[in-house]
Amino acid sequence: MLDTAKRLLMPSIRSNVPPFIVMDVMAAAARIEADGGHVIHMEVGQPAAPAPACAVAAAQGALRRGRIGYTASLGVASLRQRIARHYAETYDLALDPARVVVTTGSSSGFILAFLALFEPGDRVALANPGYPPYRHVLTALGCEPVLLETSAQTRWALTGENLLAAHRRAPIAGVVIASPANPTGTMMDAEALSRLIAIAEGEGIRVISDEIYHGLDYAFAAQTAAAVSDSALVINSFSKYFCMTGWRIGWMVVPEPLVRAIDRLHGNLAISVPTLSQVAAEAAFDGRVEMEGVKHGYEENRRILTEGLPKVGLDKFLPVDGAFYLYADISRFSDDSLDFARRMLEQAYVAATPGIDFDPMHGRNFIRFCYAGSAHEMREAVQRIGNWLAR
Ligand SMILES: Cc1ncc(COP(=O)(O)O)c(C=O)c1O
Repeated sequence: MLDTAKRLLMPSIRSNVPPFIVMDVMAAAARIEADGGHVIHMEVGQPAAPAPACAVAAAQGALRRGRIGYTASLGVASLRQRIARHYAETYDLALDPARVVVTTGSSSGFILAFLALFEPGDRVALANPGYPPYRHVLTALGCEPVLLETSAQTRWALTGENLLAAHRRAPIAGVVIASPANPTGTMMDAEALSRLIAIAEGEGIRVISDEIYHGLDYAFAAQTAAAVSDSALVINSFSKYFCMTGWRIGWMVVPEPLVRAIDRLHGNLAISVPTLSQVAAEAAFDGRVEMEGVKHGYEENRRILTEGLPKVGLDKFLPVDGAFYLYADISRFSDDSLDFARRMLEQAYVAATPGIDFDPMHGRNFIRFCYAGSAHEMREAVQRIGNWLAR
């Protein structure tokens, strides 16, 4: 009897995915702040700046006009057209708006893509280190994430060769690539991206390209997988470049034969994406001048950290090409990044994310710093970390 009652309350096995450790860091930082401490937040990967003013004004106008109803499940037609135009403007690529699907952040794009492309049991390759929800969502959907190690030799990116080697061991159904990547901020150049996609698709491996950090590229221009292959599925978002994390809005560029499947899935899972956010997102494209200003701020922060951290002892980090992350090797000081992050927070009041969130293999030796705050905070963080490490 007791067993039956207990079973009623038991979560499913598939829901048993690990938590995002960065959330625990945030909670610990909030406790310090509640006691009056001033924490510099470099743990969460989100811009400090608000959405473009024109996006906010468009949403306010829509609210004043009254009813906010459902939209078509693939998204508002004018937004899909505006996103397609963005590909012409940014990548010189003619894109059929019918291939654009509006999503609730890129996060819901992943669920739709994985459901539309993979069967339970399919093996999907991911770069290690990488963004944790890729593997956790795949696991919850019954797929098997296959972590492929990256190294300095391959500029910390996946290559066709290591993908093929894994595929020979046991068939791989798909691969998720990201450039710029999280947590490393490293990028693949156009040639490396094209080579990887050609090799993957030559073997029948489906490619998903997470392009959420496009626009935030400092070392060289990011290339879209949509320009390389009509079979690749691209995922993007208004969260990062357009500073719209809380608006929960993103998009996908979908191979034409998959649009209807995704339409059906999306209609059933969510009906449609929040209408107000779609209105704001369409206007956001007019806020590029404002967003370029924000990007210049990140570039300055990047300079402060890449010049400042080596002077205080953190002199090993991965190429800081794009996004707003610096992934630092802390092995000189600790082989336990969770403990290092905890002590840095409690003693120096600088919050960063331990590498174990992103890399079950070597993450104990790394810390991720997000540099989406102000230049003043970055200078202060370098000073605090320096004083703390010198103690
Ligand atoms: C690499 C990467 N992909 C996807 C996401 C999800 O972002 P959103 O759902 O806000 O678009 C994030 C968020 O940090 C990320 O870093």
